[in-house]
Amino acid sequence: MFGRLFGRKQPDLPQFDLSKFGVDMHSHLIPGIDDGSQSMDETIAMLAKFESFGYKKIVTTPHIMSDYYRNTPEIILGGLEKVKVAMKEHNLSIELEAAAEYYFDETLLKKLEEKEKLLTFGDNYVLFEFSFHSEPSQIDRLYFEFLSQNYKPVLAHFERYAFTLGSVDRAAQWRDMGINIQMNFNSLNGHYGPEVKKQAQLLVDEKLVDFVATDCHRMDHLMILELNLRSSYIHKLADLPLKNTLLL
Ligand SMILES: [Fe+2]
Repeated sequence: MFGRLFGRKQPDLPQFDLSKFGVDMHSHLIPGIDDGSQSMDETIAMLAKFESFGYKKIVTTPHIMSDYYRNTPEIILGGLEKVKVAMKEHNLSIELEAAAEYYFDETLLKKLEEKEKLLTFGDNYVLFEFSFHSEPSQIDRLYFEFLSQNYKPVLAHFERYAFTLGSVDRAAQWRDMGINIQMNFNSLNGHYGPEVKKQAQLLVDEKLVDFVATDCHRMDHLMILELNLRSSYIHKLADLPLKNTLLL
């Protein structure tokens, strides 16, 4: 009705079935340790929503960032155990694992150089992110460390970095080097603004996406995704050879 009121044509595509993606590998569901879920109730509600979408497994990835979130594997894995206990009490059967979203700062390079074991998922994948605003220096050094230690790096939400907006050349170049590109669903929905939406569409058009994820911090993110399951780009995205199901 609102669509007609505002003269918008409703798309004819069917509601996309998210179970096709199988695994979500970027989210913030461990309560109270980063800017994601702030309570166990919120976490359980989000996990129940993921289960209702048909996901089989969630790899949740709290921030590790020296300025704001000084999480350690012990904090993250301890939090994971508490969530698993609560899931049992609520009869949730979706599988839950934890890794991390490593922010590229000097502490990440130090960890790599000192061969500190990073939190990984699947076949040695490591999720990492850059500053949104300015291009970090020493990207080559970071990639060298990851790749020479046989990690499989996954760059979080490529489409959101201001310093690459308007071009996906670097996604292509970095993929050729062995970096996996992860995109957020809600970038396609305009949740992060029109420029990010355009960049996400370009990534899909150029087939430069390896993983797609919710990057869910709160229930809103899942509700927005649910409202956009008829969009043409989500269908287009699902036709790409994504690696999500390799994590099953
Ligand atoms: Fe994230």
